[in-house]
Amino acid sequence: MNQIKNLLIVLMFFLSQFSFSISPNKETLSQKYSDYFPVGTCLSAGEFGSNSIKNTDTELLNQYNLFVAENSMKPELLRTDNRGWNWNYADSFIKYTRSRGVKVRGHVLVWHQMTPWWMTAGGKSEAKKVLTDHINKLVKRYKNDIYCWDVVNEGVSDVYGYRKDSPWYKAYGGPEYIGDAFIAARNADPDCLLFYNDYNLTMPNKRSMVKKMIRDLDLINKGLDGIGIQAHWSLNWPSISAIEKTINTFYEMGLLVEITELDITCYSPIRENEKEKKYDSKLEDKLAKRYKEIFELFRKNAEKINSVTMWGISDNESWLNHFRGFNFYNEVRANYPLIFDKDQKPKKAYKEIMDF
Ligand code: XIL
Repeated sequence: MNQIKNLLIVLMFFLSQFSFSISPNKETLSQKYSDYFPVGTCLSAGEFGSNSIKNTDTELLNQYNLFVAENSMKPELLRTDNRGWNWNYADSFIKYTRSRGVKVRGHVLVWHQMTPWWMTAGGKSEAKKVLTDHINKLVKRYKNDIYCWDVVNEGVSDVYGYRKDSPWYKAYGGPEYIGDAFIAARNADPDCLLFYNDYNLTMPNKRSMVKKMIRDLDLINKGLDGIGIQAHWSLNWPSISAIEKTINTFYEMGLLVEITELDITCYSPIRENEKEKKYDSKLEDKLAKRYKEIFELFRKNAEKINSVTMWGISDNESWLNHFRGFNFYNEVRANYPLIFDKDQKPKKAYKEIMDF
């Protein structure tokens, strides 16, 4: 019995030597795409106990030439209860990006989530003061580091027009906070690129709503430069043609387009009760095929795309291990949405997007 066990251990050791890994001499992902667009990912910097800068293999971090803070620049992490600031996490994220000399997206100035209650507790004029002051201090602090900001995130709902349950919408009694945010960001930094960032923009209704918002609130005159298309997609949704249509729609409006928050859930994007799947070779192939077709589309449209950013490096740290459908769960349901697996080894998906 022991002999068989030993034999198996030796065999597994040999097999593991053949699984491919990233070597320091190989061309990196961002080098491979240098004629197309920067390729980025989000990073955590110690907030919520997670630190992908420290815990990720340097060879993996070196794959990217653009970064965005996963959480550390959100109001909840930056602001303290006494209306003060805690710059620790954001500063350590920026320290890393400076050491690498890479591009940085700013995320996020105004969002309906992860915002301390006091920021929207007063009426319209108080909310406007808090919003303007928050944006002014934050944008100015990282003026020399950050080339673009997600000024407003997810300001419209999937079906009903403006997101009326946003605490900013409620404090203002309407959507004017969106235009005010762009004006404040533009005043704080005349050179920074300013984005509106949202998910489900491949859905025609939501896309039309965003177009209408841009027109109705006169956002281009208030500083809007581009649209961040959050790419929280799945193995078979949305279609490649819907993604292309989305890119074209905003590009044809004269706006910059950035693909933000790319990850591919291996479950239904709306049903929450699917059982945990095993990551078998069938799933590995499906995911690889999906990444391949998506990056083919990105390359084809490279002149319209300013950057592509993944939402995470390896499967073990993806937010999708906790987020299902539209809700967070404490318990983990393993998901496999990224191009490096839970052991930080490249998946077939990585191979496919490097193979052209
Ligand atoms: C997510 C983070 O990944 C999680 O760690 C956090 O708990 C919640 O926020 N859209 C966005 C991102 O714009 O900021 C969100 O990030 C994912 C959805």
